[in-house]
Amino acid sequence: LRPARAVVPAHRASGGTAGNAAPNAQSGPCIVLSCSGAFCRHARILPCIRHSSMTPTSLPGAPFFAYREGALFVEDVRLADVAREHGTPVYVYSQAAMLAALGASQRGFEGRKVQICYAMKANSSLAVLQLFARQGCGFDIVSGGELQRVLAAGGEPSKVIFSGVGKTRAEMRQALQAGIGCFNVESESELEVLNDVATSLGQRAPVSIRVNPNVDPKTHPYISTGLKGNKFGVAHERTVATYQRAAALPGLRVVGIDCHIGSQITEETPYLDAVDRMLDLVRDIEAAGIPIHHIDFGGGLGINYNGDAPPAADALWTKLLAKLDARGYGDRQFMIEPGRSLVGNAGVCVTEVLYVKPGEQKNFCIVDAAMNDLPRPAMYQAFHAIVPLRAATPANGGEHLYDVVGPICESGDWIGRDRRLAVQPGDQLAVLSAGAYCSSMGSNYNTRARPAEVLVNGGQAHLIRSRESVEDTFRCEKLAP
Ligand code: LLP
Repeated sequence: LRPARAVVPAHRASGGTAGNAAPNAQSGPCIVLSCSGAFCRHARILPCIRHSSMTPTSLPGAPFFAYREGALFVEDVRLADVAREHGTPVYVYSQAAMLAALGASQRGFEGRKVQICYAMKANSSLAVLQLFARQGCGFDIVSGGELQRVLAAGGEPSKVIFSGVGKTRAEMRQALQAGIGCFNVESESELEVLNDVATSLGQRAPVSIRVNPNVDPKTHPYISTGLKGNKFGVAHERTVATYQRAAALPGLRVVGIDCHIGSQITEETPYLDAVDRMLDLVRDIEAAGIPIHHIDFGGGLGINYNGDAPPAADALWTKLLAKLDARGYGDRQFMIEPGRSLVGNAGVCVTEVLYVKPGEQKNFCIVDAAMNDLPRPAMYQAFHAIVPLRAATPANGGEHLYDVVGPICESGDWIGRDRRLAVQPGDQLAVLSAGAYCSSMGSNYNTRARPAEVLVNGGQAHLIRSRESVEDTFRCEKLAP
C-alpha cells in the first residue's frame, strides 16, 4: 500500500465541490483544509476529526450523526445495525436533523407571513415529503412527476409552487387541475403558453415571474442560476415589461415575484444583493399598477460538506428581513424554496468495503456504493466526507491514503480522493452529507438496483424505500418480437 502522506493534496475546492482532499487526509491532531482553484478562497483549519478522537461538533451532520463509544450513530440508532438489517449501500436519514434544519428557517421568519416550500428535488422520498408536509411546508416542484409525489405524500396542492424553464402543456394542465398555489414562470413564451392552457380550462393561472438578477452566487458553475448567461428566469431589464404582458393576459393572475440564484451558497452577500435587485423591481412593477402579493427568495443555502460554514438559516433570514423592513416591504407574504439546507446534512450513505487495491500511484478502496448512488463527485467533483462506522483504533492497523471508488466501469466513478483511512474488506463506511441530491439523482447505471432508504426517528429505524430488485430495473422493458 502507498503510505499515507502527511501532506494535503494541492488541489481542492470548497463549497461541497471539492474532489481531492478530505477531513481525514491529514495526520496529527488537526485537519488542515486548504482551498485552491476556481471556487476556493479560503484556507481553513477544522477541529480534530480523526475518527478516534472525533469531536461531536466536527462531523457534518452532528449532533444527529455522532460516535458513541467508537460506533457511529444516527440519533439513537447504530448505523452498523441498519446496515446489518438492510444491507449496503443504504441511505440513512435523521428525522430530527431535518426538523432542526426546518426549525432554523422557521425561526428566521418568526412573526412574519411565510410559506416554506421544500425544494423536493433535493430528496423526493415520499416519507421525507410527508414529514415536511406534516410540518406545514409547501413544495417547490419542477415536474408533473414531482407534483404526483407531493400528492401521494399528502402535500397540499395550494402550497405548491411550480418552477422550471421547460414546463409542458400537459404539466401545466395537471398543475392547474390540482389547484397549485403558483407557477414561477421563467420566460415570456412560457407566459403565453400558460395563458393558453389556463384559458382552455376556464381558469386563471396564478403566476410569479422568476427574475434573473445577474448576481454571482459564488458557487459551482453547474449550480449557479442567477447570472445573465444562465438559462433561468427573465432578465432584470425585461422584468417590468414581462409583468405588464402577464397582467394583460386573461388566463393569468399575477401573485408574486421569485428569484433563485444558485445552490450551495455559503455567503450571505449574494442573497442580500439579489433581494435589493428584486425589491427595485417590486417598486417598479407596482408603480406600473401591478400589485405583488408575495416575494419568493428561492433556495440555495449551503451546508457543511468540507468544513464549509454557510450562514445559519435563522441569521440569514433575519438579516434579509431587516433589509425588507428598511425598504417598507417587511409585511409582505414571503416564500422560500430550501432544498439542500433542509436535508443535506441529515443523511448518509453507508457502504461496505469490497476490496483494497494497492497501486504504484494510488491505493484504491473499492466500495459497494458507486456514482449511480452518489453522483455528486462525478458530476461536480463534489466533496463528501467519508468516515468508518467503527472508529479507527490502533487494532485497525495503519492508515493509508485511498481513492474511494465504486464498482462502475468508469474512471469517473469515484466517491472520495486521497482519503486517509484504515480499512479492510468487510469494513463499513459512511459517506456523509448525502441527504440531498444523492438518492434523488441516483440512477440504475450498470444495472445496479437502487439502495434501500431508512428514516431514523430517535431509537426507531423505519424502512422508507425497499432495496430495488434487478427485475424492478427492467420492469418497463419488453423483448422485441
Ligand atoms: N428553487 C429552485 C428554482 C431550484 O432550481 C433549486 C435547486 C432550489 C430551489 C433548491 O436549491 P437548494 O436549496 O437545494 O440549493 N444537483 C446539485 C444541485 C442542483 C440545484 C438545482 N436547483 C447538487 O448536487 O449540488
